[in-house]
Amino acid sequence: MAKNTIVELQQTVWKYYQEHRRAMKWRDTIHPYWVLVSEIMLQQTQVSRVQIKFEEFINVFPTMESLAEASLGDVLRVWQGMGYNRRGKFLWQTAQIIVSEHKGQIPQDPNILVTFPGIGPATAASIGCYAYNLPVMFIETNVRRVFIHHCFADGRDISDQDLAPLVQETVDMNRENPREWYYALMDYGTYLKTIVPNPNRRSKHYTRQSQFEGSNRQVRAWILRFVLETPRTRLELAELISDERRDENIQALIHEGLIEEVEGVLRGR
Ligand code: ADE
Repeated sequence: MAKNTIVELQQTVWKYYQEHRRAMKWRDTIHPYWVLVSEIMLQQTQVSRVQIKFEEFINVFPTMESLAEASLGDVLRVWQGMGYNRRGKFLWQTAQIIVSEHKGQIPQDPNILVTFPGIGPATAASIGCYAYNLPVMFIETNVRRVFIHHCFADGRDISDQDLAPLVQETVDMNRENPREWYYALMDYGTYLKTIVPNPNRRSKHYTRQSQFEGSNRQVRAWILRFVLETPRTRLELAELISDERRDENIQALIHEGLIEEVEGVLRGR
């Protein structure tokens, strides 16, 4: 690809960011714990919703230690409304590993971070970048959108492998402040979605988020809400939720370790 496209991309992104930088609590003061919590929350949930939950979450669990010591039920009670409750469990487990094996300090090395529950390669790198300003390369949905739009104007089935060297080039050009560079990519990538049809539809890795309404996820959210409110028997739950998929979803929640069944009573853990 022509060199000036990358230079132009960089200029466009920085210019947008200078004028439209989004304030976020976890950006405005850098605490590695806040970065961890926000990055897990942002995996599948948009910034505006995360901003509300994040406040609530760190008020209840202000430190890594307080999160690690909480019961899973307490964590999920706060997590509710964010969807994908397994992420809440993974975050809680990660906090426990960090407290017990890393003296409460989030490791900088993405190769260590990636071994923690719920943390894949992109999240591991993003935590290294946002918490410690490491010049690492990662591709998530916003980064993908920016580079597909600017560098692959009309390609299809574009893979992250095709994007990686280009993203790497921009990280190399911004080594003095990779954190700000990625913030800029996030904000500009979010904006792009509002002005062009989503370029990520042309990504090889594109999957639409599945519909929540009428889904098994929705049934699980109902069950979890009722069970975390107070322990209940299956019979009590049947009076509250008539959906025929109720029992299979109770099983799924038990299997995922989000609730347990003790002597015929379903409850949080
Ligand atoms: N700022 C820091 N991390 C972010 C993310 N994952 N998405 C959007 N903005 C962010």
